[in-house]
Amino acid sequence: MKGLILSGGKGTRLRPLTHTQAKQLVPVANKPILFYGIEALVESGIKDIGIVVGETKAEIREAVGNGSRWGARIAYIEQSAPLGLAHAVKISEGYLKKDPFVMYLGDNIITGGVLPFVERFVRERPNSQILLAHVPNPSEFGVAELSKGRVVRLEEKPKKPKSDLALVGVYLFDSTIFEAVNAIKPSKRNELEITDAIQYLIRKKFNVQSHIIDGWWKDTGKLEDILEANRLVLDSKQLCIEGSVDKNSRVEFKVVVSKGASIVNSSIRGPAVIGENVRIVNSYIGPFTSIDRDVYLENVELEHSIVLQHSKIKNIRKRISDSLIGKNVVIEPSNGRPESYQFMVGDNSSFKIH
Ligand code: DAU
Repeated sequence: MKGLILSGGKGTRLRPLTHTQAKQLVPVANKPILFYGIEALVESGIKDIGIVVGETKAEIREAVGNGSRWGARIAYIEQSAPLGLAHAVKISEGYLKKDPFVMYLGDNIITGGVLPFVERFVRERPNSQILLAHVPNPSEFGVAELSKGRVVRLEEKPKKPKSDLALVGVYLFDSTIFEAVNAIKPSKRNELEITDAIQYLIRKKFNVQSHIIDGWWKDTGKLEDILEANRLVLDSKQLCIEGSVDKNSRVEFKVVVSKGASIVNSSIRGPAVIGENVRIVNSYIGPFTSIDRDVYLENVELEHSIVLQHSKIKNIRKRISDSLIGKNVVIEPSNGRPESYQFMVGDNSSFKIH
């Protein structure tokens, strides 16, 4: 079995972060989202993984490499434009050949991994196996309609969903999927939809199995979803202190303090991860916070947030929460008079200030 991870596309819903980096490389609990997918495939015994890349291919290659760090062989498949998930499958036929494969959307995180699904697929040999999850907002996903436990119809982002069962971004296929992706036509949003390709398999009476997952799963396309994925992953951490914590500081509950990090006169209440070489002085870090490497925080209260590498936040009077702060960002009070806010902010940023 091979793996196919889709990591092209445009991260429009995560701008401005995705002006400068691939959405699949945004870290959750200090690890790029994409790595969760690679690890899930490797854990299920898959060693040959193709990654479909688009305009952010250089940084994805740089972050992932050849896969040897996971004991995997990673190949890159270039997609000229984000023409749809089924288009990504179509251009990967030369790599996948006749092998069955797991397709994993590079911006999805699913707990519990994919091993049980791979095992069932290998055992029962359907043409396709799809995973479904109950969601409160089905019209933002591909939606499945079931009858007597079997999928009878799939629809991509329907205005009036027939159920609350969303297609999860992990699919298992055998090579009949190539017949389907070659037969379908682009959708209203001008993409070749994998949902339509699976609907084709159903219509042609191929064996499409479905499985309703009971663990959690997140499509991290939006800020709220990234923060929630961060919360869920952090919750599974254990206390682990490799950096230094001075005697005036308190670190409690599930907190990871990485190598080279130093906590001075501060309180950290987990779940939280503090990355390498982070320095936290006179501050409070509250639950569900991930601080990436080389960040500097002084006189700050911060919770339920993600701060990316090399940022610096100092002397902020109010607590910062529910925030995603990019790389190399500086937030500090201006010291001139009259008192004023002073910004140098990229396009499509959003601020909420009292
Ligand atoms: O997350 C699950 C949902 O993923 C499913 O419920 C939907 O049926 C499915 O269409 C998909 O919807 P999204 O609109 O969320 O897909 P998105 O455009 O975000 O793309 C998912 C991943 O695939 C993302 O990592 C980017 C990558 N991609 C996307 C396109 C359109 C490619 O590599 N190439 C592409 O052409």
